Amino acid sequence: MSECMTPRLSSPNAWIVSIMLAFMLAACQGDPSPPEAGDAAAADPESDSVVPVALVTGSTRGLGEEVATRLGAMGYHVIVHGRNIERGEAVVAAIESADGSAEFRRADFLELQQVRELAVGIREDFDRLELLINNAGIGSVDGEMERTVDGVEPVFQVNYLAHFLLTEELLPLLRAAAPARIINVSSAAQAAIDFDDVMLERWEPVEGQIGRPYAQSKLAQILHAFDMAERLEGTGVTINALHPATFMDTYMVRRAGIEPRATVDEGADAVMQLVTDDVGSGQYYRDMQPAQVHEQADDAEARRKLRELSLELADLVQ
Ligand SMILES: NC(=O)c1ccc[n+]([C@@H]2O[C@H](COP(=O)([O-])OP(=O)(O)OC[C@H]3O[C@@H](n4cnc5c(N)ncnc54)[C@H](OP(=O)(O)O)[C@@H]3O)[C@@H](O)[C@H]2O)c1
Repeated sequence: MSECMTPRLSSPNAWIVSIMLAFMLAACQGDPSPPEAGDAAAADPESDSVVPVALVTGSTRGLGEEVATRLGAMGYHVIVHGRNIERGEAVVAAIESADGSAEFRRADFLELQQVRELAVGIREDFDRLELLINNAGIGSVDGEMERTVDGVEPVFQVNYLAHFLLTEELLPLLRAAAPARIINVSSAAQAAIDFDDVMLERWEPVEGQIGRPYAQSKLAQILHAFDMAERLEGTGVTINALHPATFMDTYMVRRAGIEPRATVDEGADAVMQLVTDDVGSGQYYRDMQPAQVHEQADDAEARRKLRELSLELADLVQ
């Protein structure tokens, strides 16, 4: 079977089927110098007394761990984030043992209040943030959860909405550090957001259908990047999105029963390119190259609808 054909699967786990298909669809489509403090593009931490600060969400393992480790080696103070304290502290220890600087902060993105508290804590302790990498993600939710405590479809919340809220809450620090960068770790698995059914009440995972919760959340991250790029024009804060690599050898991929075919290093190379190179703002990269994105990302009305819905869901409406 060609790797780009839709496979016939008879897995009893619908989510595994759907996420595999999402990843396979992604595979069939068309996807590093550090910052002067205050210039995430050119930041050279060693040439400035101010240590640039980076927050990498979901850096207790997988792609985020590797990116956090590289940023630590470049001279950033790295805020390692995730839920698992033991793994988070191990990442911090590894960065420190290589003469880097890091700390761990725990927040479960299945609860928006924990996202707010994470942001409040960072605002209390730092007056600038050079780099925000919105990376934490899940392919599907553990167990039978249909809604988070915030009433939101869980994959949409962890992958997209929590990061929307976090970005809003940390914007003052990013603006203070400008030039600063935001990177949304998205995916080539993208499905249009149905604004009449964002919570996917009418969607049932079925054989042959892509993993809509994941693919919708990943496209939402790209709409977010494009929308924010317009909003942040002229501020010195850039935002881009990328598909890092296809089927990296990470927990998310192995949990879905997929044979990895890319390394975490490959994905980290793609992320680091957006950290270090002059790529502008409002771009979508697949692996190391600018790439075509789902047409909904170019729809200004869809971006406006998503922004308004997100402000409402995140309780940010004035
Ligand atoms: N793997 C691939 O081939 C691939 C391809 C395209 C895009 N991506 C994207 O790359 C990013 C990283 O994926 P990965 O493959 O490295 O996954 P991973 O190894 O499973 O790591 C996921 C990270 O997200 C954190 N996380 C998960 N649920 C969370 C929650 N509820 N609250 C807070 N943090 C949470 C995890 O922290 P804890 O375990 O501590 O909770 C972990 O650090 C994701 O956004 C993914 O969509 C991956």
